[in-house]
Amino acid sequence: MTRTDEFAPDTAVPGHGAAFTDHMITMDWDPRRGWHDRRVAPLAERPLHPATLGLHYAQVIFEGLKAHRGADGAVTVFRPDRNAARFAASARRMAMPELPAEAFLAAVDELVGLDAGELPADAGVSLYLRPLMYGTESHLMLRPSEEYRFLLIAYLTGGFFGADPLAPVTVHVSREHTRAAPGGTGDVKCAANYAPTFVAQRAAAAAGCQQVVWLDSTERRWVEEMGAMNVFFVRRTGAGVELVTPPLTGTLLPGVTRETLLALAARIGLPAVEERVSVDEWRDGRIVEAFASGTAAVVTPIGAVRDAAGDFTVGDGSAGPVTRRLRQLLVDTQRGAAPDPDGWRRPVPPAATVDRVRRYYRLVDAGDVTGLVDLFAPDAVYHRPGYPPIVGRAALTDFYTGTRVIRAGAHTVEQVVGTGPQVAVLGSFAGVLHDGSRVQLRFSDFFQDGPAGRFVRRDTFFFTPMV
Ligand SMILES: Cc1ncc(COP(=O)(O)O)c(C=O)c1O
Repeated sequence: MTRTDEFAPDTAVPGHGAAFTDHMITMDWDPRRGWHDRRVAPLAERPLHPATLGLHYAQVIFEGLKAHRGADGAVTVFRPDRNAARFAASARRMAMPELPAEAFLAAVDELVGLDAGELPADAGVSLYLRPLMYGTESHLMLRPSEEYRFLLIAYLTGGFFGADPLAPVTVHVSREHTRAAPGGTGDVKCAANYAPTFVAQRAAAAAGCQQVVWLDSTERRWVEEMGAMNVFFVRRTGAGVELVTPPLTGTLLPGVTRETLLALAARIGLPAVEERVSVDEWRDGRIVEAFASGTAAVVTPIGAVRDAAGDFTVGDGSAGPVTRRLRQLLVDTQRGAAPDPDGWRRPVPPAATVDRVRRYYRLVDAGDVTGLVDLFAPDAVYHRPGYPPIVGRAALTDFYTGTRVIRAGAHTVEQVVGTGPQVAVLGSFAGVLHDGSRVQLRFSDFFQDGPAGRFVRRDTFFFTPMV
């Protein structure tokens, strides 16, 4: 099947990169506090200062990973630790602060826990997670930003190339443009790597192809990647069959899917090598199958190649047996239908799954709170056996849009769970929003005593609409 869409090929419903879920996680960094203030908010636009350093000098990195719903209904995230490591490597290369893996994983857990309810049982749909970090300082000196924001958003995706994942794509060898050069940034996931590829993608579409094949920038001979995916070849058939993928020379992105497929090949006894493959070798018939690998593309067969030096068909032009087998094994592994001996599937924390929260409101951020004086309604009294009761006032603000300030409310504590220094508070809140609309919310908060008699909020305050 040939598709000629310019950028994103025809997509199944939901399309790729458009069906965003309800929430986002944000976190900020500055030299004094390091990473701080992780919070959940409804997905919303944020104004940027026109001199935001990241916008001008491309101090921007991102990641892409997926959560899947397995046949048993459980949602798991696939190998997020590998994305956390690559995010840190990208940060180092772009002179940005590293986000510790635990903080990366905690953000992933929180967002997936919240929004996994939007993920249908349909095996063709997954939840794509997009972590992003950019320099936020409004300063235009040519130096690294001294402030950063981390964002995590998610969208549902039915697949990058459309409804039929085994439909082979036709690809275009870019002879004019290259993606990466030795010493550059090809091995990290910085935003600056992507905009320059759009003209080549446009040329590919004009040639009737879905994707670009990138050659090395020195000899313009060796196949490096395809679009924003790694590439695999199959040499020979039968007993001599061999899986080949280009080595990580510094100009390729070390794909998590690539790494996974090499491990899966080893697991099933399929010989695999990391070796350069030239377009000439690809054309001369020794390569019987080829496919692209990536989080979004999973495993996508390559059926035909268009090249200024001569077009050719790969094998018989359809998805070959090795491609099909590896694709199925990968999908089964991601969805729990195949064994997971190395613990690649990270389960979503069950509490978050059960307690799916649709909208979050956040109390005025007092950091380490002295008592609860600024936080709760006067009628809210928190009894903790052996400790004095806590009395407070309400002051609720939606920080994220700045528009939904709750200006009146009755606060009812229904249950206080726990004794001693830790306490969870369950209750409901009836309030009036800034725009006059009435809300009734349920909340559950968790506190614990901090140093010097201060009461420390352990968790973001959640307010769930009762409707
Ligand atoms: C340039 C590039 N190559 C390869 C990949 C595939 O990597 P992964 O398998 O981790 O999605 C990506 C996607 O992240 C990419 O942007």
